[in-house]
Amino acid sequence: MRSRIVLLPGDGIGPEVTAAAQAALAAVARRFDHQFTFDTHLIGGAALRRDLPPLPSDTMAACAAADAILLGAVGAPEFDSRPPAQRPESALLQLRQRLGLYANLRPAKVWPGLEAAGPLKPEVLGRTDMLVVRELTGGLYYGEPRGMADDGGSAWNTMRYSREEIARIARVAFTAARARQSRVTSVDKMNVLETSRLWRTVVGEVAAEFPDVKVEHMLVDSCAMRITLAPASFDVIVTENMFGDILSDEAGAVVGSLGLLPSASLGDGPGLFEPVHGSAPDIAGRDIANPIGAVLSAAMLLRYALKLEQEALVMESAVARVTVSGELTRDLGGPASCSTMARAIVSQIEP
Ligand code: IPM
Ligand code: MG
Repeated sequence: MRSRIVLLPGDGIGPEVTAAAQAALAAVARRFDHQFTFDTHLIGGAALRRDLPPLPSDTMAACAAADAILLGAVGAPEFDSRPPAQRPESALLQLRQRLGLYANLRPAKVWPGLEAAGPLKPEVLGRTDMLVVRELTGGLYYGEPRGMADDGGSAWNTMRYSREEIARIARVAFTAARARQSRVTSVDKMNVLETSRLWRTVVGEVAAEFPDVKVEHMLVDSCAMRITLAPASFDVIVTENMFGDILSDEAGAVVGSLGLLPSASLGDGPGLFEPVHGSAPDIAGRDIANPIGAVLSAAMLLRYALKLEQEALVMESAVARVTVSGELTRDLGGPASCSTMARAIVSQIEP
């Protein structure tokens, strides 16, 4: 198979973990005789530093024409004083919106050998295996009006959802649940927000199309608590953009490290695959970042964008063999560097 993959290493630890994921994809290509072409483009702070906009037009064009996009991370503290539209993060938000990538899948599970890596007692963590389905192109991130008064005395954002936006992400979640344990927890704040009342109503309507899937509704504060108290009780969580951003970081911490979490953003355009962890400027350039989130994102790229399920499974079992081996990065309590862990994963993929 021939596929064009656009790489967007971006900022902070983005380039290190993207290199690891690229090496894993190249190993899969060798083993299964595929031809992947990698085309690297600037995004975020890396573009801003060259006096380009956060999402340069040739980057956007390359992404729109790709079979799949693999992103490292965007964000750098040097741009913190800038307004939202001139920050590195705005590139990612524009990319998601312009490619119509409304469905963000963030699986969080306990990997073999990592049962004690996180903050929870292994008996509380159990066999936690959840999928956070985050709505990605609506809500507070995009709602208008938004702004800040010229005198800096007040600022505002808008949370807005249409029935269609809620229904389509709910369908993604219910469909995903069918391939898992057929349970969906829909998370909202319906005791306070109108958008959440609509959310609960529409998810209830979509649930009726999936009579074989069990649905429960949970308030976001209560869900945040349950993720720490009983993480193994969840199967699929579906929620709006901002709640999903917050709960997915929590899910990552609970299963051992945010560095383990991959994501797939799917919708109308080519899929975008990125680790959940972000640019982590405090550890950038030191070769100590955990490459697993990026490698597992590459596995999701194989599965969802290229429909190469067997190849995705090979990449995931390579990761599992490395997590049991103890060849772990610091966030998981081990001595390995980003590049030694990446090499260990690659050597498990190669026949
Ligand atoms: C994420 C990140 C992004 C988000 C940032 C970098 C804009 O935190 O993908 O979770 O908030 O969506
Ligand atoms: Mg986030």
